[in-house]
Amino acid sequence: MPTIEVIRGDITTQTVDAIVNAASPQVRGGGGVDGAIHRAAGPGLLQECIERFPEGLAVGGAGWTTAHDLPASWVIHAVGPVYGRGSREQLVDAYANSLRRADELGAETVAFPLISAGIYGWPRDDAIHAGFDGIAASGTRVREVRFVTPHEEMARAIESALWRVTPLRILQGARVLHERGFEQVRILPGMSPSGMYWRLELSVGSGDILGYTTGTGSRVAGLDVTAATTPEAVADHLLTLSPGLAPAADPGYAQWYRELMSLVEERAALPIAFADYFDASAGWEIGWGSGVRVPAPPE
Ligand code: APR
Repeated sequence: MPTIEVIRGDITTQTVDAIVNAASPQVRGGGGVDGAIHRAAGPGLLQECIERFPEGLAVGGAGWTTAHDLPASWVIHAVGPVYGRGSREQLVDAYANSLRRADELGAETVAFPLISAGIYGWPRDDAIHAGFDGIAASGTRVREVRFVTPHEEMARAIESALWRVTPLRILQGARVLHERGFEQVRILPGMSPSGMYWRLELSVGSGDILGYTTGTGSRVAGLDVTAATTPEAVADHLLTLSPGLAPAADPGYAQWYRELMSLVEERAALPIAFADYFDASAGWEIGWGSGVRVPAPPE
């Protein structure tokens, strides 16, 4: 599972095995990071793209070339979807296929721009989480993934998303357990009295099986849960904390939870059921202090 870090800078200067280019389906250069990479690599890159990709690449696809005058060894050209035209799955695939190409090349370090988040207009937070989902889905052997952006606020947004991704993966893991028939799995999330840490208690009928606080970072009952961890792997881990748990139906709760999670993912914000000076009678809040409320879960 790769480490993931954020670099504020220019992807063309990264000394990694492979840099990923946010290309067009024609893979013949362009503006944005595509233009920057072709300028830095020199004219040989375009020539190789014409030879290797005579028909271009599909949206969501990825293909590699050598890196010519760039410090990296390879350029992986990935085609993201245009917001409003392509699908989120294609954006996730663009990351996952880039890492599959990297694995085929034996690359150990890979730098990504935020694919589709520029000219293709994809909303920033969802572009970031689609990148995380693509890394998790790829099962890559790459050791280190970098998100590289020249923009300070983009770098901060990726850092903030990385801070929230462990809680998000636990919540997504609980949804996977519901999908597997363990609808009795319930959550109780909220803020610590200091307001510093987000906490989660995850329980089944017989009692708590997990207590988590963001104070422990990405460690979740002994498992390292990061952006590169799939919700399915989290669900598997949660089941090891409650050996012999039998599936139990609670369709009302499972439906409520699906609705909660679609808001959590849409707003990239964590649910709050308790906090100091928190008025729980108005329901749960999506993002502490956001004012966005959902009804409390069914009893
Ligand atoms: N290093 C890292 N990131 C960069 C760089 C750079 N040198 N230059 C731009 N970016 C960032 C942009 O700020 C944006 O956040 O890369 C992200 C992706 O933006 P675009 O390059 O516009 O790529 P995308 O939104 O995927 O659109 C692809 O643009 O350049 C054309 O040919 C390309 O048609 C394709 C389309």
